[in-house]
Amino acid sequence: MFLSFSVPLLLLAWAHSAAAATADEWRGRSIYQIITDRYALPSSTPKSDCDVSRQTFCGGTWNGIRENLDYIQNAGFTAIWISPINKNYEGPRTAYGDPYHGYWVTDVSQLNSKFGTADDLKALSADLHKRGMLLMVDIVVNNVMVTSTTNPDYSDCFFKDASFYHPYCPIVWGDTQSEQTCWFGDEKVPLADVDTTNPTVIQRYGDWIQGMVKEYGIDGLRIDAAKHVQKSFWPTFCGKAGVFCMGEVFGGAEVDPIAEWQGPDALDSVLNFPMYAALRDAYSIPGPANITQLDQVFQDSKKKFKDTTLLGNFVENHDVPRWHNLSVDPQSLYNAMTWNFMADGIPIVYYGQEQSFSGSGDPNNREALWPSNYANTTAYQYITLLNKLRNFFVNTTDWAKSETEILTSSPHGFAFLKGPIISILTNIGSPPQAGVHISVKTPWETTTALTNVITCTQWVVGSNRMVDAQYSLGGVPVVLVPSDQLKGSGLCGTELAYVDSHGGKADALNANSARSPRKLSIIPFVAAVAASLKFLL
Ligand SMILES: *[C@@H]1O[C@H](CO)[C@@H](O)[C@H](O)[C@H]1NC(C)=O
Ligand SMILES: *[C@@H]1O[C@H](CO)[C@@H](O)[C@H](O)[C@H]1NC(C)=O
Ligand SMILES: *[C@@H]1O[C@H](CO)[C@@H](O)[C@H](O)[C@H]1NC(C)=O
Ligand SMILES: *[C@@H]1O[C@H](CO)[C@@H](O)[C@H](O)[C@H]1NC(C)=O
Repeated sequence: MFLSFSVPLLLLAWAHSAAAATADEWRGRSIYQIITDRYALPSSTPKSDCDVSRQTFCGGTWNGIRENLDYIQNAGFTAIWISPINKNYEGPRTAYGDPYHGYWVTDVSQLNSKFGTADDLKALSADLHKRGMLLMVDIVVNNVMVTSTTNPDYSDCFFKDASFYHPYCPIVWGDTQSEQTCWFGDEKVPLADVDTTNPTVIQRYGDWIQGMVKEYGIDGLRIDAAKHVQKSFWPTFCGKAGVFCMGEVFGGAEVDPIAEWQGPDALDSVLNFPMYAALRDAYSIPGPANITQLDQVFQDSKKKFKDTTLLGNFVENHDVPRWHNLSVDPQSLYNAMTWNFMADGIPIVYYGQEQSFSGSGDPNNREALWPSNYANTTAYQYITLLNKLRNFFVNTTDWAKSETEILTSSPHGFAFLKGPIISILTNIGSPPQAGVHISVKTPWETTTALTNVITCTQWVVGSNRMVDAQYSLGGVPVVLVPSDQLKGSGLCGTELAYVDSHGGKADALNANSARSPRKLSIIPFVAAVAASLKFLL
């Protein structure tokens, strides 16, 4: 009796304490973002439709997530971020429906029973840790939901006394003081602003987060509406939590107002809204194809952010339109996503992105995932490939900490180097464009054998250290790695050896028929990107 109890308990305790992860431990991770209500139904529940426009619960739970972790881990993700877990408003339906998303928190000291029990959440956490994965939880501390701006009732809230809140005022956007003291939400769903300068609030929030992180084995926090709380709140709060903190500082392509929220006097990390805006404006089709802005955001980020390698990179989330609502062309998504995985930062994929969901903004971008049958789509396979490559370099080298460097930037192309990986991205989309090519100066010697990891074709560095991407079969991303550095990655076979001598084209190597490498010609060698597009077209 004693043994059968103590062993699992010890293991659990170990798993939890071993996990509570710092910024350093998150840098190399890859995150899959989940809205718990929409990711997976528990096995006990019959499959049902989910009409996003109804803005109500569709039945996803923590057990549903736990029972469907293979789908996430098989795609190479090493962490998940789940929507808020704490108790929400439970009254009558509002003008914006019910709080299926979990952001209408009332009492952070309780769990949201809609998504399961404390044991269910602990089981999810333990299962993740058993898989070597981390758990990031979304938290809301800026505000609580009430039903009135004039006579709010706080009796169901964590802070029950009106003195712990700022009096109602509507936010004047752009005015920091107002953004931090006035109320989020509106008259229909008032979100009362907690007075986070009150010492009792600071103390009680600190004790709460410390306890919750321990209790559920949480490894990181995603902090909702972080800029609506005074900056000086966060170092103390996150210190108590003892885990990585990534804040939501909503914004556009302007780097300054976002960058000031990262650092020792603020947060470990913020979501990379400037790069999101830049990628959207550079790669969406139709779109402004604004590579200048991408270049600008990159340069500004390098100067202004404390550590770009910790930023949360994304092209979709629950507050912005799905990529495919802005841009139908699949290559536009693959190119933009490649930036998120191969440049500085922690890649985040919003559930459903891998299924090419295409809903517009809230609530249409919160589709249920189960109707997709968790299919092994081209996008899913592409993400798997990017994760596999990134995980390999993260695990075996200092890659995650290395600095991204731009190699070339032109109206249709953008190439950058991070560690020994060159990514060449284009915004021309799927149609072939024989006239377009992107020449990139590499740091590698002429004749160095490279592998384009996306297609498993072999390239060779040409004269003057150049490579040249051509798009006669359409604008697919190119990701080049010196072939000898791929050894052991499980990518593109073990040895990459075959070079077709005709016309400078390269073919994928069949691992079963590995031949000894042919002598590489010294003649400048240009591999057509198009040589092997089976995978992406
Ligand atoms: C590109 O972005 C820059 C910086 O935001 C802006 O000034 C410029 O007008 C944009 N160009 C196009 C073509 O949209
Ligand atoms: C964008 O989203 C809206 C609402 O979800 C939908 O009606 C529309 O068809 C979507 N557009 C595309 C291109 O998918
Ligand atoms: C998805 O399909 C690809 C190509 O057929 C296959 O290699 C891969 O193993 C599949 N992944 C999963 C998780 O089934
Ligand atoms: C890298 O590390 C992660 C997390 O420990 C692990 O899940 C993954 O299998 C590793 N990948 C490689 C390619 O070694």
